[in-house]
Amino acid sequence: MLEARSVSKSYPTPRGPLPILNGVSLTLQHGEAISIVGPSGSGKSTLLYIVGALEPPTAGTVTLDGRDPFTLSDKDLSAFRNKQVGFVFQDHCLLPQCTVLENVLIPQMVAPPDETAPARAKALLDQVGLSERLDHRPGELSGGEKQRVSIARALIRSPQLLLCDEPTGNLDRKSAGQVADLLLEINRASKTILIVVTHSAELAGRFPKSYELIEGQLFAR
Ligand SMILES: Nc1ncnc2c1ncn2[C@@H]1O[C@H](COP(=O)(O)OP(=O)(O)O)[C@@H](O)[C@H]1O
Ligand SMILES: [Mg+2]
Repeated sequence: MLEARSVSKSYPTPRGPLPILNGVSLTLQHGEAISIVGPSGSGKSTLLYIVGALEPPTAGTVTLDGRDPFTLSDKDLSAFRNKQVGFVFQDHCLLPQCTVLENVLIPQMVAPPDETAPARAKALLDQVGLSERLDHRPGELSGGEKQRVSIARALIRSPQLLLCDEPTGNLDRKSAGQVADLLLEINRASKTILIVVTHSAELAGRFPKSYELIEGQLFAR
């Protein structure tokens, strides 16, 4: 279970703290899938980074199965992020000089050795429909294909959380639909908790639950 309790976040500025999130609470069971919408600058990415333990909250707590990652040592916090959190960004963030298969294996390079990883990477690339493109470089792929590689990369450690920040923001309508299909299929098959941040009402409406971030607070839509 993922539980955010009264999460607030402000950033320091020369004129004092700038409040972004103001008491966000959210509880998600394994296998749940939600979307979060909100205007640009409303704090959607900030909330995702806090939930994914990239950024500490100013107040409140986030726990995954009762564990608050920000109570861990730096080393254990890094291991937590690597194991439990898969991120997909609007810009796929693939390494251009590496092949598709190598890109998917990147999170594994800083994890304990696992000889099954290459076979799992190939299985994930098959699942995202790219088994014929293992040796291609990102520059040889379409936008939708690159995003599907980044989804496979996010899943290589079998994380409990799959967090997607505007995953279809750079895609045409058809590719966006395919990426949404894939995310929902992965969520159903793997019981990963899926959170998708988007400004697309069409994409948001495809998730079983949808929330809106307004003035630092989260409302069910
Ligand atoms: N590191 C930071 N320092 C100061 N302000 C920040 C920082 N990160 C984000 N912000 C501000 O927080 C607000 C929310 O940002 P963000 O979470 O990226 O919004 P969204 O993803 O909804 O567009 C914005 O006004 C942004 O400028
Ligand atoms: Mg954002």
